[in-house]
Amino acid sequence: MKKNELILIIDFGGQYNQLIARRVRECNVYSEVVPFDISIEKIKEKNPKGIIFTGGPASVYGDDSPKCSKEIFELGIPILGICYGMQLMTYTLNGNVARATKREYGTTDVNIDNTSLLFKGFNNTNGFLMSHTDYVETLPDGFKNIGYTSSCPNAAIENKERKLYGIQFHPEVNNSINGTQVIRNFLYNICNCSGDWTMSSFVQDSIKVLKEKIGDKKALCALSGGVDSSVAAVLLSKAIGKNLTCIFVDHGLLRKNEGDEVEEIFTKQYDINFIRVNAKDRFLEKLAGVTDPEKKRKIIGEEFIRVFEAEAKKLGTIDFLVQGTIYPDVIESGLGKGAVIKSHHNVGGLPDYVDFKEIVEPLKSLFKDEVRKTGLELGIPENLVYRQPFPGPGLAIRIIGDITEEKLDILKEADYIFREEISNSGLHKNINQYFAVLTNLRSVGVMGDERTYDYTLALRAVETTDFMTGVWSKIPYEVLEKVSSRIVNEVKHINRVVYDITSKPPATIEWE
Ligand code: XMP
Repeated sequence: MKKNELILIIDFGGQYNQLIARRVRECNVYSEVVPFDISIEKIKEKNPKGIIFTGGPASVYGDDSPKCSKEIFELGIPILGICYGMQLMTYTLNGNVARATKREYGTTDVNIDNTSLLFKGFNNTNGFLMSHTDYVETLPDGFKNIGYTSSCPNAAIENKERKLYGIQFHPEVNNSINGTQVIRNFLYNICNCSGDWTMSSFVQDSIKVLKEKIGDKKALCALSGGVDSSVAAVLLSKAIGKNLTCIFVDHGLLRKNEGDEVEEIFTKQYDINFIRVNAKDRFLEKLAGVTDPEKKRKIIGEEFIRVFEAEAKKLGTIDFLVQGTIYPDVIESGLGKGAVIKSHHNVGGLPDYVDFKEIVEPLKSLFKDEVRKTGLELGIPENLVYRQPFPGPGLAIRIIGDITEEKLDILKEADYIFREEISNSGLHKNINQYFAVLTNLRSVGVMGDERTYDYTLALRAVETTDFMTGVWSKIPYEVLEKVSSRIVNEVKHINRVVYDITSKPPATIEWE
């Protein structure tokens, strides 16, 4: 198989490292994030067209600061050092890095030399995000200055002959104006990339590789109805057809109609061996009386595996197990320098003792937006591809306290109305996650001439890019009013609707 051009992103611990990798890919060049202590042999083996050193919180003079070997600069591979990466390049090549008296932070006008290949097409000044205390004071031999700000004398440097570049600012973030263009210039003007990374080439190449790898052996996929497992399943089915079986464990805790929608797509649109296990009763039985959120998660995770295993056993020998792991999971668990994965978010993962010969992870090199593009490329409907995140334990963690079938039905209806109205108002494009929560609070109301004593429903809507932090969405009152009035009128046993106006932190997105 033809290998894609590669840009190696060497990780020095910066918070924007995944973003750098994504920006490179947005420019149609494949990129991989690797730890800073990668060996020179490994780099040679990977044969990248260029290397980017990321930023990082350390100072090059710190005892434990991540370093690189001088040899990397002798490879003849173009290198762009960003922030700490630039300082490290300077330090390693015997320039001098100094500590400023004051930290420079924010989008800052940088005076740039637009005759440099790195800044081709830019005006003489451009606003970029600066965020540093240390700065490059003296350049290494052979380097020249190609940018400065009012408080940073060397905001950009180059050694054109050796194709080594350093920038103190962060081109990868949105606060830098035309920042991606700097990355694009590095890729195309300096590394001479041709831009061979597209989702359609990914799909074609993957199908070929999967065909070769699996041949006419059997593969099994656990479908959750989420984007990742759906895309993985369709990709596999294009490669191995009927040798793929998908098991969709419907735990009954999905949103209204969702289980049927998944079944419809996979049975009508694709020619896949599709098994739906309706296991709602089994799950509800296990969950009866359980109020602790972590206990709910654990029960659902374990039960999911049990149901899946029992179904898989009926199929006889299975060679490959398909998993929808995506690149951020790989980066977070593989590099792990300060990155934290929330363990409770791995509900639905399969334990080691499940008896399969090998795991296939066809999406493990893709970012989420690339998974979605792949899904569209494969013909998966937009409403599934752009589905908002939905937790593995489903509505169980949106019913506060114990779960009953009645509560589940109430929540499904109310949540459906909320989503419908958000969609009708066009707000769904700006709100990243929105849902209803059934609280275990009951209060007095009046309906007609009758006194009621019913549940309070909470609405939650957040705007976020990473789901680690987020702000509550300022939904217009008229929309909230309509949602509230429809819910109390159309859904039995809800007589009060409240809107959650807490951001994350201090609150989390889910209530449990
Ligand atoms: P929190 O509530 O921690 O949620 O602010 C952040 C994001 O993670 C999702 N979430 C989960 N996803 N299993 C999952 O697969 C879980 O147990 C779980 N808990 C929270 C949540 O929906 C949000 O997108």
